Amino acid sequence: MTDVLFIPVKLGEIELDHRVIMAPLTRLRADVDSDNPNDLMREYYAQRASMGGLIISEATTVSPTARGYRGSPGLYTEAHVRGWQQIVDAVHARGGKMVAQLWHVGRTSHASLIGGEPVTASDVPYEGMAFTADGWVPASRARSISIEEIAGVVADYAAAARRAMHAGFDGVEIHAASGYLIDQFLQDNSNVRTDAYGGSVVGRARLLMEIVDAVANIWGAGKVAVRLSPSSNFNGMADSDPDSTFTQVAAMLDRKRLAYLHVVEPRISGFQEVAPGLQPVAAAKLCRWFGGAIVAAGGFNGSEAAAEILRGGADAIAFGRYFISNPDLPGRLRSGRALTPYDRSSFYAGGSRGYTDYSAAVAPVRSE
Ligand SMILES: Cc1cc2nc3c(=O)[nH]c(=O)nc-3n(C[C@H](O)[C@H](O)[C@H](O)COP(=O)(O)O)c2cc1C
Repeated sequence: MTDVLFIPVKLGEIELDHRVIMAPLTRLRADVDSDNPNDLMREYYAQRASMGGLIISEATTVSPTARGYRGSPGLYTEAHVRGWQQIVDAVHARGGKMVAQLWHVGRTSHASLIGGEPVTASDVPYEGMAFTADGWVPASRARSISIEEIAGVVADYAAAARRAMHAGFDGVEIHAASGYLIDQFLQDNSNVRTDAYGGSVVGRARLLMEIVDAVANIWGAGKVAVRLSPSSNFNGMADSDPDSTFTQVAAMLDRKRLAYLHVVEPRISGFQEVAPGLQPVAAAKLCRWFGGAIVAAGGFNGSEAAAEILRGGADAIAFGRYFISNPDLPGRLRSGRALTPYDRSSFYAGGSRGYTDYSAAVAPVRSE
């Protein structure tokens, strides 16, 4: 049933032995004073590494002002490079590969986290939450970022991409989904700018394209990916014509010759299912506009994942919540063993409970 998941695949220049990818999952276990990745995180990622499989790191901030959630890791200091290096080495030692997901939250932040006002595409009303030393609090009012500051953000992405390379990652994924800074530029309910970074889809996608070019300049496009969530209203997002916006963005990205385009299905909003029963549509739609490899995510089990690959909607499937509770997910899907249910209360709870204490049931998947 799930055999197709275990046919090797090439995502740009990233070669994999199977198609069961670990989705990016923020777990808020980094050191809170420094954003340093730590030993507990190394254990967690090593547990989830599989021979020839791909792990996408949790969203990782590109600068001190990109932060929005206390406990999420960074890639903006040399200590971060050393911390990630330990993790990537542990994943490699188990035969796995790992890409870093690069992140700027934009308006979903709080002044106490970044020492000033958050920035976003346009100063439009928004009610969201940030995770601070005082717990979940309403996000601070964000201001429209200036053109000069945009150049700084692009440079921050480039610097973080270089650090990801120094840490030994196998590539990078640019987080342009889920209502964070790049998505705030892409969609027209949060971007009402009248300069070169607003207006038409070309204008609204300019920040993303500049970041892609800057990062590809360091890595080569074949090791750079982009994640989009074309229809998610998570973090207050909306667009007046999402089909037109995201098909155009996919077509623009097609010309960049990326490793893969990662697409979140509309049945998912952020970290939960909002339309159970809705069949996957997003990746199958965008694959008509993006000729490279497609990774689909959101609400998949093993048989649905295999069906999606067989019907040509995606080349590989990223699993989120099931990878939290099944560290040996590729092996379980291959053997057909039941999946352990996840405990939502420990997603962001800190510590090892619900993080490193889920046990493996099967031997690791080996390439043949
Ligand atoms: C606890 C948790 C944290 C998440 N963190 C991220 C993240 O850091 N970056 C991201 O792009 N998506 C994030 N997501 C979304 C997942 O990558 C994925 O799209 C979503 O869970 C749907 O997939 P699933 O049905 O297989 O869980 C998160 C989801 C969960 C449940």
